[in-house]
Amino acid sequence: MSSTIQAPKGVPEYLPPDSATWLAIRDTLARQATLAGYGYIELPVFEETALYIRGVGESTDVVSKEMYTFTDRGGRSLTLRPEGTAGVMRSVIEHHLDRGQLPVKLWYAGPFFRAERPQLGRYRQLQQFGVEAIGSDDPALDAEVITMADRGYRDLGLAGYRLELTSLGCRECRPAYRALLVEFLAGLDLDEATRERARINPLRVLDDKRPQVQAQLADAPLMLDHLCDSCAAHFAAVRGLLEGHGTPYVINPRMVRGLDYYTRTCFEFVHDGLGAQSGLGGGGRYDGLMSELGGQELSGIGFGLGLDRALLACQVEGVRPGGQGALDVFVVPLGAARERAALLVAELRAAGLRTDQAFGERGLKGAMKSADKSGAPYVVVIGERDLEQGVAQVKSMDTGDQRAVDLDAVVDHLVSICQN
Ligand code: HAM
Repeated sequence: MSSTIQAPKGVPEYLPPDSATWLAIRDTLARQATLAGYGYIELPVFEETALYIRGVGESTDVVSKEMYTFTDRGGRSLTLRPEGTAGVMRSVIEHHLDRGQLPVKLWYAGPFFRAERPQLGRYRQLQQFGVEAIGSDDPALDAEVITMADRGYRDLGLAGYRLELTSLGCRECRPAYRALLVEFLAGLDLDEATRERARINPLRVLDDKRPQVQAQLADAPLMLDHLCDSCAAHFAAVRGLLEGHGTPYVINPRMVRGLDYYTRTCFEFVHDGLGAQSGLGGGGRYDGLMSELGGQELSGIGFGLGLDRALLACQVEGVRPGGQGALDVFVVPLGAARERAALLVAELRAAGLRTDQAFGERGLKGAMKSADKSGAPYVVVIGERDLEQGVAQVKSMDTGDQRAVDLDAVVDHLVSICQN
């Protein structure tokens, strides 16, 4: 016998019944975007490598260590998309969406690829639901985007998460703050690897979790205390609007995002039940990204919510978006009743009930076993004698009650009991 082949390392698969929850999560989040007037964008799964180097930033781990890059048959360097924002910007510029009504509001969902060390909640093929809103620096847009994600998580039934918020300043105020931080870090007792990290991006040192580093960082200068007037006013307006929307948040002035394009408002949804991979989703403003990629000077804001982690969070909290079970009715035909039963199955489906049936000649006992395993709350048995009498036996799997119902009335009967 030849050996079996397994899925590549770090690539999750979602099979029934979890896959139904998976779809419900994606659709619940997408509904919020549709309600807020965001249009769907379907993007390529690979792009020119230069897009990510310019868009996401060469100094980030995502670009420098985690990209799946390959050369195609024409000698071009291509990369499996590690994130969605750069691709959306490329497409908006290429198709001139930025010349029309602003802001351009788009949502997307699908797989992204990062060559990370796999563990629970951290995968090499990850899935995100994301939105991008381009062409307005109105703080109302920040509040809209953030609130949309929060409502989506609440609609899923999640409660064990918090929204962390900060501002990373802009091209005006960040350089001066960065110089202050570099000076502060130079006076600390840090190992060579940490010094190197500080050289590439000093802000990232603030996020170091090691106690001996954290202890030295207690008095580190924070961006929030050094915002220019315009960034401070923007941040105050976003906070006020979030409070108006009833979107709870906590300020985390030491938040560090893994991508270079962020400016001003930055946020993360953090779930305490997910262990090390606690980031449910995150996003922020990226006011220089469009022009960096050759487009107009337009600002934007968006987020990416990890769908794999949303599913884990639902499992941890014991919530099942999309309801229980995959079926409403299971039909068991016996002997000569098979043809009438197949008709009934079609009628039940046409009436909107999720219906399956027993296949093959297995007799009542075997077929009832399948009915039980199907998880359907109602089972309809039709045997030859039922057919002669013009009835079907409708059984509730919860209570065990069974009653004969006229074949002509069985669809209406099931529709009404399934709705209760
Ligand atoms: P990100 O923070 O890199 O942002 O990813 C967003 C979310 O994707 C994370 O919070 C996490 O839930 C999920 N995620 C990331 N990496 C993995 C992984 N290896 N395994 C499982 N889940 C993962 C972005 O990608 C930005 N494009 C978001 C954005 C949009 N910012 C503005 N617009």
